[in-house]
Order: sequence, then structure tokens, then C-alpha cells
Amino acid sequence: MAPVSPPRSRPGAHPRRWWAAAGVRTRSSVAAVLVLALLTATAGTAGLLVLRRSLLDTVATSAVVQARLVRAAVSPGALDGSDPAARERLDALVGAGDDRGTHVQVVVDGQVVTASRALAGLAPLSPVVPEVARTRVRERSLPQLGDDGRWLVAVVGADADGQRYTVVVAESTGGAQRTLRTAVLLVAVGGALLLVAVGVATRVFVGRSLRPVEAIRRTVDGTTSADLAARVPVPPGDDEVSRLARTMNAMLGRLQAAQRAQRRFVADASHELRSPVATLRAAAEVQRLHPGSTGPAEFAALVGGEAVRLERLVADLLLLARADEGAAVPVRAEVDLDELLESEAARLRASTALDVVVRTAPARVLGDAGQLGRAVRNLTDNAARHARGRVELGLRADGPDAVVTVVDDGPGVPEGERERVFDRFVRLQDSRDRASGGTGLGLAIVAGTVTAHGGSVRCTAPAGGSGALFEVRLPLTPQAGDVPGAPQPPSAASR
Ligand SMILES: Nc1ncnc2c1ncn2[C@@H]1O[C@H](COP(=O)(O)OP(=O)(O)OP(=O)(O)O)[C@@H](O)[C@H]1O
Ligand SMILES: [Mg+2]
Repeated sequence: MAPVSPPRSRPGAHPRRWWAAAGVRTRSSVAAVLVLALLTATAGTAGLLVLRRSLLDTVATSAVVQARLVRAAVSPGALDGSDPAARERLDALVGAGDDRGTHVQVVVDGQVVTASRALAGLAPLSPVVPEVARTRVRERSLPQLGDDGRWLVAVVGADADGQRYTVVVAESTGGAQRTLRTAVLLVAVGGALLLVAVGVATRVFVGRSLRPVEAIRRTVDGTTSADLAARVPVPPGDDEVSRLARTMNAMLGRLQAAQRAQRRFVADASHELRSPVATLRAAAEVQRLHPGSTGPAEFAALVGGEAVRLERLVADLLLLARADEGAAVPVRAEVDLDELLESEAARLRASTALDVVVRTAPARVLGDAGQLGRAVRNLTDNAARHARGRVELGLRADGPDAVVTVVDDGPGVPEGERERVFDRFVRLQDSRDRASGGTGLGLAIVAGTVTAHGGSVRCTAPAGGSGALFEVRLPLTPQAGDVPGAPQPPSAASR
């Protein structure tokens, strides 16, 4: 819908608003008709002007030919009447006794010697006396003929044995004008019919072309968030409309997949939240029905343990939700990955009996130290949980990337599960059976954090041995004088 705007006094605003509101079909038809009208008017006018010129040329040629015919019959005796026979032939030729439509005068010294019957008694039609053998043609009206039409008057200069005279021929342009009027009428009617036909055809054709767009609109309009299964009809071919339809369907598909993932996430989250809550409720119920059946220390340990589980779960869910909103990297500062790995190793050594090996080279990345620490901790926690006796943490520069590796000598991740373990709430059978198992969000958080930092993470197996190898790649901070990928002296520590 067009935004409501305050009334404007600018006079041009109204037609423009009308034009915008008229719709594609009307706008296309009006534009096509206007362009065609302009072309037809230009071409029609030019054609009619050419036709008019050509018709008048024909009339003028006829007048000149007639004048020359008369000139050929003139002799000195015919002019002064001394040769009655010659004069009679001349009179017959100019039509003195009848009217042939072409009016002729033979003029000597401004006096009409002989003339067609319609011109009898009239003064010369043209005072012009051209040079001998020269012809002058003028278009003019001749009211003295009792006709308000236009005439072409041709005057030929001649000489009969030294006697100068002129032959004046007046030819009516009435026939030419009538032909021209018919042509104008034909062009006008034909042009109008053409414009109507083009306007209607454009409207119908554009309407047809827009029909699939309307079908797409209707489908999308009827699609609710409750049911994203509908797909818009895809017209055949590969034009803009069918591409729009395919793009629309791809978008609906993505929305549907995202909605499914969200529903699954909510279902899994509530399922995970239910079990500690149920444990707490059951413990409270037992305590109410059988006071003293559980010692205070045991009860506190149970409640405390479940509260910690709940707290972790809620924190994880919050982190993932924020990552989904794209707000996962609030702070961007330089983070020393080697320091981060060293402190993780120290933590593992202090909290487990595992053999922890660290191989690091100095590497700095831009990002959030808290989130990156959390990601590394999730990987080392997993490694510590699954390792038989040894965990290796590594850090090296590889081209523009810092590569963090976490390796353990546990059972490893089966090849078919190595992508899936990064999904939310995914726990493999082995971990589900373990009482110590987590909620399956750790690796999802790692993947989210690493992606938000412009990096990648993958799970493989260490070369030539059993166990799991998790490899995180993060873009190194470019530093002045720093050659990325240059071999760095490894600092190894083992316990
Ligand atoms: N180092 C590893 N060795 C073998 N299997 C692993 C290893 N790391 C992860 N997995 C498998 O991948 C699953 C998903 O790991 P993830 O860290 O996402 O969840 P979790 O450790 O079960 O729970 P959480 O980390 O949320 O406490 C684990 O349940 C486990 O089955
Ligand atoms: Mg984990």
C-alpha cells in the first residue's frame, strides 16, 4: 500500500500519483498507445505531406503540358486574327466554345486574345510575363471563377515570329484535395483503430503475463507460519516470473526447514529441562512424605547437582539463542590462543589424572576471549570425558589461519556421525548411556562460536591411531612484521 502523505500543493503530484496507482496493465497499455500514437502521427503527417506534394505536382504537370500544347498551335496570324483558319484552330484548342475543366488564356500585351469559355470576358489570370520558353506555376485562389477552391496557374512565355505572348492555364486542385481528404480520413481512422487494438492487446497480454504473479501472491498470502508446506506454482520456461516462483519456493523451503529446526530445538530443550526438574520434584516429594529418609548432606548434594545441571543448560540455551540472533560476537579484541590453550591444559591437569600434552606456537586472533575460551573448554571437556589416558592440545599457524587441535585416545567418533555431532542435542549412544553425559549442546556451541569468528571446525580421527581429533581454524590477526604461516618454535610441555 502506498504510504499516506500530507496533501501537497505541487500541481504535478496528482497525475504522478494516479500513474503510480494505475497498475501495471493500465500503465503498459497507456505507454504503448502513447508511443504508437506519436509514431503514427509523425509517419502519417509525413506520408500525407508527400502525397499532397505528389498530387499537386501531377496537377502542375498537366497544366504545363496543356500550356505547351496551346503554345505549339499559336501562329502570328492566329494572334492578330489575320489568319482566320489558324485562329479557329486555336479557339478550338483553348475550348472557347465549350468547357473542358482546364481553363486557358492566350495573352498578348496584357490583352486576352482567346480564352476558354469559362474565362470569357475576364482579365488575364496572371500578370506575370515569363521569359520565352520559361514556365511559372503558382497555387492560388481564383474568386473571379466563382469557385472558392485552390487553383494551379501555369504561365508559359512564348514568341511567335517576334510577337511576345503568354499562355495561361488554370487547373483546379479540387480532385487532388478530395484525394488528400480521403487519405487523411483513412490515416485517422486506421490509426485510431490501430491504437485501440494495440491498447487492448497490450492490456490482455500484460494481464496474461501477470496471472502467474497473482497466483504466487495468492499462495504466499495464504501461507501461515503454522503451515509452511505450501509451494507457489512455477510457470514453465525460464523467464523472470518462473525464476521468481523458484526463488520463492526455495525461500519457503528454507523457512520450513528453519521452523522445523526451531520446533525440534524447543522440544529437545524442554525435554532436557524436564529431567532435572522432575528429579528435584521427586526429591522434594520423598522428603515431604518421608522426612529424614535422606540425610541433609545427601539432599543438598542432589539439589545442588541438579541446580548446576539446570544452570548449565539454561546458560547453553541462552548462548545458542544469542548466536542465532547474530549477536554472538559482542566484543572483538585480540585473543592469545596459546595462553588460552595453556590455561586449559593446566585446568585439565589439575582436575583429571590424564596425560595432557600441549604443543603451541604464538597465535593471535580477533574475537571474544570468553566465547573462544568456552569453545576450547567444550572440546577439552569432551576429550577428557572420552579419553582413555591421554589428551593432546595443539596450536599452529597454517597460512592465514590459526589451527587448534584437540586429540584424545578414546573410542573416537564414528565416520558417519562426524558432521551430526555438531547439531544441537546430539549425543551418540555411548554418551547417552553414561551418567556423566551432557546435554549434547557443547559441540553446537563450538560450531556457532567458531562460525561467528569467521572460522570452521571439523571432526576427524588422528592419523594412525584410534581416538577423536577436533580441528578448529580461525583467521589470524594480521600483524605488522608478522609472516603468517612462518614456522614458529614449538613450546612443548607434558606431564
Ligand atoms: N572426543 C570425543 N570422543 C568421542 N565422542 C565424542 C567426543 N566429543 C564428542 N563426542 C560425541 O559427540 C556428542 C556431542 O558432543 P557435545 O559436546 O555436543 O555434547 P555432550 O558432551 O554430550 O554434552 P555437553 O557438551 O552439552 O555437556 C557427545 O555426546 C559424544 O557422543
Ligand atoms: Mg560436550
